[in-house]
Amino acid sequence: MENGQSTVLIAEDNEAIRELMGEWLRQQGHRVLAVEDGEEAIQTVLAQPIDLAIFDVMMPRRSGFSACRAVKARPETRLVPVVLVTGLENREDRVQGIECGADDFLYKPLHREELLARVRSLLKLKQFTDELENAELVICSLALSIEAKDPYTNGHCERLAKWAEALGRRLGLTEEQCVALRRAGVVHDIGKVAIPEPILLKRGPLTAEERAIMQLHPVMGERICAPLKSFRAVLPIIRHHHEKLDGSGYPDGLRGEQIPRAARILQIVDVFDALTTDRPYHAAFSRDEALAAIKQEAERGWWDAGLVTEFEGLLGDRKAPEPAQRSVLDLLNPQAAATAGGLNGAVPRLRDLEREAVIRALVSTQGDKQLAAHRLGIGRSTLYRKLKEYEGSAEGVSFPAVKEKEVLCPQPHM
Ligand SMILES: [Fe+2]
Repeated sequence: MENGQSTVLIAEDNEAIRELMGEWLRQQGHRVLAVEDGEEAIQTVLAQPIDLAIFDVMMPRRSGFSACRAVKARPETRLVPVVLVTGLENREDRVQGIECGADDFLYKPLHREELLARVRSLLKLKQFTDELENAELVICSLALSIEAKDPYTNGHCERLAKWAEALGRRLGLTEEQCVALRRAGVVHDIGKVAIPEPILLKRGPLTAEERAIMQLHPVMGERICAPLKSFRAVLPIIRHHHEKLDGSGYPDGLRGEQIPRAARILQIVDVFDALTTDRPYHAAFSRDEALAAIKQEAERGWWDAGLVTEFEGLLGDRKAPEPAQRSVLDLLNPQAAATAGGLNGAVPRLRDLEREAVIRALVSTQGDKQLAAHRLGIGRSTLYRKLKEYEGSAEGVSFPAVKEKEVLCPQPHM
C-alpha cells in the first residue's frame, strides 16, 4: 500500500471486462495494473508489491488457477489475496480454486457493488497480514541482533532454523509445527536480550548467581513473543528448549514426554550446531564426534534417543556444514601434531596440543571427566595422570579447580 493507496492487479483477457473493472476500482482511489494473461500476471506480482490480485480463470498462456497456485507457492507473495473470476457458478471451478489457495471468487456477469465489497474486505485482511509480517520481522531482527553480539555463534540461528525444520518434515510433523520449528530456530534465544551483557558475553565460568540469571532467558523469550498470535506454536519451543529428559533442565524441570516434541527436536539440532562450530570454549567437533557426544548425552538421559537417530538419518541424507578447524581428536593425534610442529618441535608441540585438547574437552563436557576422557579417546586414569602432569602449567586454567561434574563453562548448552 503506497500513501494509503492500494495496488490492485487485474488479469483478464477480455478487454471490455478488464477496462470496466479497472474503472470501478480507480473510482475508489485504487491504483490499478491490468494484464491480459496468467504469465504476465505472475511476472507483475513478482516485480512489485501488490495488495490484491483478481485473476480470470480462463486466460491465455496460463490459467487463473495456475497463476494463483504460483503466487501462493512463493513465500514472498503467498500473502497476496487472490480473487478468481469465473464465467460459471461451477462447483468444480470453486473446488479447484480452493485447492489453488484462492481467497475468494467472483462470478460473471460482474456486479459493481459485489466486486467492491469483496475488494474492500480482502484489502482489510491484507493490511492485517502486513502488520503481522512487520511484527514478525521485528522479532526476528531482534533475535538476530542478539546473535550478532557473539561472533562465534554467527549463522547459528539460520542453520538451526534450517535443520530443525528439515528434521520436523522428516518426522512428518504438521505444516504448522514445521513452520514453528523454523521460527524457533531463529528466535529461541531472544530472551537473552534481557540478560546483562557482562553475563551474556562472559567467556569464563558463570557464578551460580549469573547462571540463574542466564537461565531466565527461555521464560523471557516466551514473554516477548507471547503477544504474537502467529507465534503460538513457537512459544512452547522457546520456553522448553533447555529442558532435559531426566528432569535436570530448566525452567520447569519437565521430564520425558512432558517436554514438547518440537522442543526436543530443536535441542538436538542446537547441541549439534554448538558442537560442530568453533567456540572460544571448544574447537569444532567433526560430525561423527558431535553425533557420538549427543548419543552419549542421550544415554545419560538428556536428549530423545529416537530423535537423535532420526537426526543422524537426516545428516546422512544431506550435506551438513563441516567444521572449519581440526577436531580435538586430531589435536591428540601424534602424527598431526608432529606435522603441525615440525620434527624438531614435535615433542613440546605435542604436549601443548594435548594440554589444549584436554582443556577443551573438559570445558565442552562441562567438567565431566568421564565424558571428557571418552571424547579424547583415552582412559579416565590417563586423563587424571595428564591433569596431574599439567597441573598449574596452563595459563588461566586451574586444574585442581576442575571437580567432578563441575560446570566450567555452561555456554554450549545455554
Ligand atoms: Fe537458549
